[in-house]
Amino acid sequence: MKISNIQQLNRFKQLIFLVLTVAISTFSNEFFAQGEGLFKAKCAVCHQPHKNGTGPKLFEARKRWEAAGEGALIIEWVKNNAKLRASGKSARANEIFNEYKGSVMTAFTDLKDEEVISILDWVDAQPDPATAAPPTTGGAVTPGMDPEEESALSWIWIILGVMFVVIIMAVGGVRRQLNIATSDQLDVQEKLTYGEEFRAWAWKNRLYVGISTLVIVISLVVGVLQGLSRINVVENYQPSQPIAFPHSVHAGLNGIDCKYCHNSVTKSKSAGIPTVNVCMNCHKQISGEGKPYASEVQKIYAAAGWDPKNGPTGAYNNNTKPIVWNKVHVLPDHVYFNHSQHVVVGGVDCKQCHGDMTQMQEAVKVQPVSELNKIEGNIKLSKPTLTMGWCIECHGAKDVPLGNGKNAYYDEIHRRLKDNDKTLYRKYLKDGKVSVSELGGWECAKCHY
Ligand code: HEC
Ligand code: HEC
Ligand code: HEC
Ligand code: HEC
Ligand code: HEC
Ligand code: HEC
Repeated sequence: MKISNIQQLNRFKQLIFLVLTVAISTFSNEFFAQGEGLFKAKCAVCHQPHKNGTGPKLFEARKRWEAAGEGALIIEWVKNNAKLRASGKSARANEIFNEYKGSVMTAFTDLKDEEVISILDWVDAQPDPATAAPPTTGGAVTPGMDPEEESALSWIWIILGVMFVVIIMAVGGVRRQLNIATSDQLDVQEKLTYGEEFRAWAWKNRLYVGISTLVIVISLVVGVLQGLSRINVVENYQPSQPIAFPHSVHAGLNGIDCKYCHNSVTKSKSAGIPTVNVCMNCHKQISGEGKPYASEVQKIYAAAGWDPKNGPTGAYNNNTKPIVWNKVHVLPDHVYFNHSQHVVVGGVDCKQCHGDMTQMQEAVKVQPVSELNKIEGNIKLSKPTLTMGWCIECHGAKDVPLGNGKNAYYDEIHRRLKDNDKTLYRKYLKDGKVSVSELGGWECAKCHY
């Protein structure tokens, strides 16, 4: 049987339909992902879109720079604010720096211009939770509904939406015209509405429609899952710190135990960052006078309100100011992570997640999983450090040291399994171990509040 022109045209349309839907869904996903991901990974520690924190709110920061006549310099600011300030060509830079006296923004020299723009675009597209009131009655124009105020992102959605409608209409229209031209049942065809027309068309081509729907659904599901397991990649994140504190000198050369400074790591959820008093335990004596690092120790003294000239006792004044360390490893608020459970009960070494800190000469950074995998004794993982995929992957691979007497809770689970549920226990032990996931380490609620 010969394929008629109309059938060929139909095939063509189906192909376009398929390609377009796939293209649209991937394109918009990517666009969303970049700015949001970068913001969360690099800026969210200090900035929020709509609230001042360590740094100012970033919503429409570009407008403020444009208003100061320095619209182009904001990118330079983000990439290296110290350099921009030093260059003296930006008044805004010095103004905002003075406003936030004492806080220094990290430099992001590795960011590309487009990446900075994608961050600022994303921020500007975030609605303000405080003013996101229900639409006003009476047709008053709410601020922010002004077309000029519309973000670039919502424009893209509108354009995509319009394009989609146009395509649907065109497909319907062409089909109608062709039907009218070729059908001998003119009157019947003309009574059909677009909806009926579309349904009839979909039914007739159910194989193709079915396949394209399947493709779209699968790509969406895969996209969402990949997004979740890779969301927010923060590998290599290394904020600058107020004092050049080398772990290598303390935990390495001088062999100070991690727990001396991170003293809640075996007892509670968080490991804790030492206060200046902990530093003073040793640095009252170690001033580093004459050594290159003396100025760093002076910063400790300044924070503790200590004057070494007044002798070893009674030198404190009340003029203290806390050292503001920048947090390196950050999980979103909705994630629950507990150090003591991993370190004590699970028997996981700090190295597994943080790398070999005894070798760390510079500021702490989030070690990429490729580096972590090089360390002897570490379980080899593939998903980026601190992402959900990373947690999950380890929970599937790592066994739980059951019944080692270190934790009554797990000893009890162990006993119950052995005594009451022998089949389940044997099933778990088929691979010779009980993994974290088998005890519930893959349940959403274990990690999410
Ligand atoms: C370690 C904290 C910190 C991080 C991380 C950080 N900032 Fe900042 N940012 C600040 C502080 C503090 C200021 C205020 C100026 C100052 O004191 O240097 C600031 C100011 C700014 C300004 C100027 C705002 C205005 O109203 O003029 C922009 C823009 C900005 N940051 C963008 C970013 C972007 C984009 C990122 C992520 C790539 C980022 N910042 C990451 C702390 C931070
Ligand atoms: C003498 C005190 C001291 C000792 C000992 C020490 N640390 Fe730290 N640690 C600090 C301070 C101060 C910071 C914050 C500054 C920084 O992040 O560079 C820190 C930061 C960290 C961070 C990053 C925290 C964050 O914000 O995410 C990790 C991880 C860490 N330490 C792990 C270790 C491990 C593992 C050991 C043992 C091998 C260790 N530390 C030993 C003082 C210490
Ligand atoms: C299973 C992985 C894992 C292990 C093992 C681990 N950490 Fe962490 N650590 C994390 C994560 C994840 C965070 C971020 C926590 C957050 O933001 O809530 C973190 C944060 C930290 C911080 C920052 C402060 C805090 O509590 O948030 C320090 C300091 C730290 N870890 C030290 C240690 C030390 C010391 C050890 C070993 C005794 C250790 N960690 C073992 C994953 C781990
Ligand atoms: C248990 C003792 C001890 C504690 C606690 C301690 N330090 Fe030290 N620190 C030392 C020793 C020892 C040295 C090495 C001195 C030397 O080699 O001359 C040192 C060196 C340093 C240096 C210079 C490193 C270099 O070579 O560049 C800095 C900076 C420093 N410490 C900061 C801190 C800070 C900040 C804290 C608190 C978070 C702290 N230390 C806590 C013992 C300690
Ligand atoms: C290196 C391997 C490893 C990594 C990475 C890891 N975990 Fe775990 N996790 C374990 C082990 C081992 C246990 C079991 C400890 C125990 O017996 O309670 C555990 C237990 C847990 C539990 C308790 C589960 C239960 O059944 O009660 C939670 C919650 C948890 N982890 C959250 C996280 C989160 C969130 C992350 C990522 C930020 C993470 N873990 C990363 C190894 C890991
Ligand atoms: C072992 C711990 C763990 C388990 C189990 C887990 N998650 Fe997550 N999840 C995380 C971590 C950690 C993040 C944050 C990742 C990041 O910020 O990079 C996260 C992020 C997310 C996010 C993204 C939110 C955001 O930050 O934008 C969603 C949605 C989510 N998880 C849903 C789920 C669902 C649904 C399940 C159950 C099927 C689940 N999670 C099970 C650890 C876990």
